[in-house]
Amino acid sequence: MTTNQKPTYTGDIAEQQIDPTKEYSSENQELIFSAEQHAIWADLFSGINQTYLLEHLCQEFKNGLALLDLDPHHIPTVSHLNNRITQRTGWRIERTVVRYTHADDWYKKFAQRIFLITDYLRSRDQMEFTPEPDMFHDIFGHLPYLTMEFYARIEDKFAPAYMKATQDEREVIKRLAWYSTEFGLVIEDNQFKIFGAGIISGRAELANTVMEFYRLSRDNVINYTANVFEQLTDLFQAHKSDVHRIIDGVNDLHQRGQMSSQDEGWNVVHSLYQSLGITRDGYFAGEVILAPFDIETIARIPKTVYAFNPMFFVCESFQQMDALLDSYLKPIALRN
Ligand SMILES: [Fe+2]
Repeated sequence: MTTNQKPTYTGDIAEQQIDPTKEYSSENQELIFSAEQHAIWADLFSGINQTYLLEHLCQEFKNGLALLDLDPHHIPTVSHLNNRITQRTGWRIERTVVRYTHADDWYKKFAQRIFLITDYLRSRDQMEFTPEPDMFHDIFGHLPYLTMEFYARIEDKFAPAYMKATQDEREVIKRLAWYSTEFGLVIEDNQFKIFGAGIISGRAELANTVMEFYRLSRDNVINYTANVFEQLTDLFQAHKSDVHRIIDGVNDLHQRGQMSSQDEGWNVVHSLYQSLGITRDGYFAGEVILAPFDIETIARIPKTVYAFNPMFFVCESFQQMDALLDSYLKPIALRN
């Protein structure tokens, strides 16, 4: 390897094992943040807390944000979060030194209704996007929902199934969590609304997603005065084999380390369409493909591409999300 050759970075985040000697205890959950860290928090908060963006987030997020009562200018204490959350849903927040927990450790905590938040906050040069989930993602993206029973119920589904799943099933379970609680969309008032914490806490992903809502109408792909979910289902069914070819192609690029950033991701995917002979118009003309939450398709995405998401999945309602997740997770959780 020559010195100026960059190491291959596949967009994966290195998983860390928890070193028990460095982990926070119940006595030292509260950290002291610098003025600059509070300022970064305030800028991230106000960057998303804008009417023109909030109108595209699901109502549950906005209800939960009000219940969580975050200070726009200061990083909250763990005790503030637990005061707002535990009495409502029984979930508890714990601080962790681990930036990206090994899924097995994460789900062990989940099974005890403990939601881990990292002690890491992104730096100024990652305001639009951070591949590693930071404390703004954990707190602003996820915790509003943990004030509400419906979300606690959804989060409660994953750990019992994960504990009993085979290795292959565990990969699917991670994908299902990724494309629901992290990057899921839901229909409300016959409109696409953003649900997932990963989209909500990253302005770049958020802006791309909102742009796709407008593009679908602008290009006459979806008519927002007719049933939106039905139209999306019809489009997906008509293009399913091409969607699967794109997913397989993206996976292949990912394995070869060509999806190392959002910019790189968009660029190589453009040429992937070309090589597959798929014209970028209509359903496929946007920066991200929207599809109904389809477990078979989600399971086909064998690796989570952290720097770049080629598609997002939409549920018709939270009841449907509940039922679809149950259809996969419950039989596994009920095994002896
Ligand atoms: Fe997350």
